Amino acid sequence: MDIPNTRWFPAIKVRRSRRLFKTLPVSEDVLTRLKAVCESFTPFRNVSVKIITHSIDNVFKGALSRYGKIKGAPLCIAFVGDTRDPCIQEKVGFVGEGIILEATACGLGTCWVGGFFRPDVAASLAQVQEYEKVFAVTPVGYPVEKASLEEKIMTGFGRTHERKPLAALVTDMERVMPAWIKHALEAARLAPSAVNRQPWRFTVKQNSIMISVDTMKDTYHISKRIDCGIDMLHIEVAALSLGVQGKWKFLTAPDVAQYSIV
Ligand SMILES: Cc1cc2nc3c(=O)[nH]c(=O)nc-3n(C[C@H](O)[C@H](O)[C@H](O)COP(=O)(O)O)c2cc1C
Repeated sequence: MDIPNTRWFPAIKVRRSRRLFKTLPVSEDVLTRLKAVCESFTPFRNVSVKIITHSIDNVFKGALSRYGKIKGAPLCIAFVGDTRDPCIQEKVGFVGEGIILEATACGLGTCWVGGFFRPDVAASLAQVQEYEKVFAVTPVGYPVEKASLEEKIMTGFGRTHERKPLAALVTDMERVMPAWIKHALEAARLAPSAVNRQPWRFTVKQNSIMISVDTMKDTYHISKRIDCGIDMLHIEVAALSLGVQGKWKFLTAPDVAQYSIV
């Protein structure tokens, strides 16, 4: 499946993490579409996406923390990867964010959860192989219309949705950049990351963007390379929305990947 950039680019701007859901099932037609995208968005063969339709609360139960209190979702999606692949974290981030943007475009609420879930329960419900791991999950459903006081407290009254300015993320912000690069960097800046740490740093070359991590230290036991994979998808969706086609090359740490025009 090609990236549906006209559908996913607007979703980048409206998506935000939601943690409290109405106890409403996801409508049949929406579920059918979401299932189709989960099955056909396969840019990397070592990543798979599993929709879990029962025992959702068990995935989150016991993962105690105010950060990450998920309630009421009728569905959960598990992002599964082959642990033998050295670039698996960024690939999981890339594919997972595609599903998150598709769910957003369908009017559903989501929240990447990489820390506060029960991987053993998720692995069993997603029926993973012994060489695979559930790297992250998301609840999926219709979020409550207005964030409750509990959700507002959890998100620091919107602070967890704030983003660093591009000048803090781009090595050489002063240089003259092609329009597509500026556009892609703006979309990259909006990507979600664990505890909103925004670990990505960008180096711009003539017709390419390189993503690196800020430091090699992970926090909350969640790899920053998952965040960077999410960011990679935002860059590609934004580039495609201007008709710019590129290719990713995976790099070694602290660099993650480079997107260059083909
Ligand atoms: C890889 C990853 C893991 C995350 N893990 C959790 C988590 O365990 N619990 C939680 O409540 N939110 C989690 N989040 C959501 C972030 O806190 C949220 O994306 C960030 O604060 C930015 O807010 P926004 O998504 O509303 O823009 C995670 C996000 C990412 C990208």
